Amino acid sequence: MSLPKLWSFHHILMLSVFTGAAKGYYFHHWSQCIYSYSDFSDMVFLDGFYFNKYLHVQFNSTVGEFVGFTEIGVRDAENWNKDPNILQQYRAEVDTFCKHDAELYGTAVHDKAVAPVVKLSLVKKGDSRRPSLLMCSAYDFYPEQIKVSWLRNGALVTDVTSTEKMPNGDWYYQIHTELEYIPKAGEKISCMVEHAGFSKPMIYDWNPPPVSEFEWSAPLLFTVGVAALMLGIIIAAAGFIYYKSKSMTI
Ligand SMILES: *[C@@H]1O[C@H](CO)[C@@H](O)[C@H](O)[C@H]1NC(C)=O
Repeated sequence: MSLPKLWSFHHILMLSVFTGAAKGYYFHHWSQCIYSYSDFSDMVFLDGFYFNKYLHVQFNSTVGEFVGFTEIGVRDAENWNKDPNILQQYRAEVDTFCKHDAELYGTAVHDKAVAPVVKLSLVKKGDSRRPSLLMCSAYDFYPEQIKVSWLRNGALVTDVTSTEKMPNGDWYYQIHTELEYIPKAGEKISCMVEHAGFSKPMIYDWNPPPVSEFEWSAPLLFTVGVAALMLGIIIAAAGFIYYKSKSMTI
């Protein structure tokens, strides 16, 4: 495109004539293709010419011609809108530039979803009075968009403690969501993950560790000790009787 070059040259030249040595002017030309449907049916081509912070003139494919926003921008828009060649070229950009490139690059990004690996873990073990802290972690997914929610007996839990999403730094992301809850018997807690890499929402049930963990309490230890002692006495007595009966027959 020779147009932006010509325009910037013209402006920088003009400014340096009027202001002397330039302290650093910044011209930029920003082309955007905006769309949200994979068939590009709502594709819009936007082309803006900025000098320092200001947008002077813009082409919007929905409008179909240049619109000026500053005095000089209005003048440029008038001139360019009078030129059928420029207009024809810009009106074609939505197809030749936007749709063409979106098709080319889109396939490199779309349909490249990588489903997360989901893990549930117990951060803090609670009891009937103190809440437990559960964490649902999803690792190594792409793209960034994800929804992680908690379910209690299949119903959505709204008071989620915290959620943190972060980039791995390698195009993949991870997210950690914590839930604080008082464990109740017969209750099922699950983590639901929705991501483009899955064909449907995935539900991961939390399997709490066995509740009645075996503990060596003092009375239990004493009982086992006494039982072992008595068994020892019985065996010793039996051995003594056997020995006696053997020695008597000789
Ligand atoms: C482009 O022009 C259309 C029609 O005036 C407008 O609705 C739309 O917001 C414009 N797009 C942008 C990004 O300015």
